[in-house]
Amino acid sequence: MIELAASILASDFAHLADDIAAVERGGATILHVDIMDGHFVPNITFGPPMVKAIRPITKLPLDCHMMVENPDDFIEAFAEAGADMMSVHQEVCRHLHRTLQQIAHHGMQPAVVINPATPVETLIEVLPMVHHVLVMSVNPGFGGQQFLPLCLEKISHLAEMRDELGLNYRIEVDGGVANDTVASVVEAGADMLVAGSAIFAHGNTERNAQEFLRIARAAATSENPPGTIPFRSVQTR
Ligand code: DX5
Ligand code: ZN
Repeated sequence: MIELAASILASDFAHLADDIAAVERGGATILHVDIMDGHFVPNITFGPPMVKAIRPITKLPLDCHMMVENPDDFIEAFAEAGADMMSVHQEVCRHLHRTLQQIAHHGMQPAVVINPATPVETLIEVLPMVHHVLVMSVNPGFGGQQFLPLCLEKISHLAEMRDELGLNYRIEVDGGVANDTVASVVEAGADMLVAGSAIFAHGNTERNAQEFLRIARAAATSENPPGTIPFRSVQTR
C-alpha cells in the first residue's frame, strides 16, 4: 500500500490544524513529525508538547522521526504524548537493539533511519524487529533540500533483503520527495512516502496531496512492480 506521510515541518505553523485537515482530505494517511535537537542536526524543531497538541485534532498515526543525539531519553515522553511510530537514527544508537525494544515496549511501532552515507547492511540484525526502515534521501536537518538519487539503490536493496529474509518491514523515504522524484522511489520499492515542501509549500495543500498520490500510485501499478528494478535516472529539482 502506497502511503503519503505528510511532513508538518513545511506546514504553516500558525494554521497547523487547517493544514493537517487539508492533507487528510487530500489522502495523506500518516503525519510525519520531525524532531530535531540542534546537535545531531543543525536545526531545532518540536518536542513532546507538539505531539500532544496534534494528537486530539487528527486520527492519523503520528510518525516521529527522531533527529536527536539521545533518543532513549525521550521514548517515554513521546509515547505518553501520543506518538504511534518512532524512528531512530542508526548513527546515534549505540545499543540500537535495546532502543528498538524500548520503543515497542512503550506501545509504538519501532523504526530505524539511515543517513545517505550509512549502508543498508548495518541494519541486517535488527530488520526482523522494525515496522519500517526510513531511508534518508537528503542529509537530515532541513526541508526543501534536493533529492539524492543514491537512495534509490539502497531502497531496492532493502526490498531485496526483505524478500530474501522473508520479512515484512515497510520502506519509508524522506527528503526531496516530490512530484518529479516520487515515481523513482516507488519503483525502487518505497511505500511510505514522506513529503513536506511538495505538499505544503506552494498552492493548494489538499490538491497537492492528491496529485502526489496519483503519481505515486501510478508508478506502483506500472509495468515495473515496486522493488523489481534497481533504479532509474531521475530528474532532480
Ligand atoms: C529533513 C526531514 C524531512 C523534511 C522533508 O531532515 O527529515 O522530513 O520535512 O522535507 P521535504 O519534503 O521538503 O524535503
Ligand atoms: Zn523526517
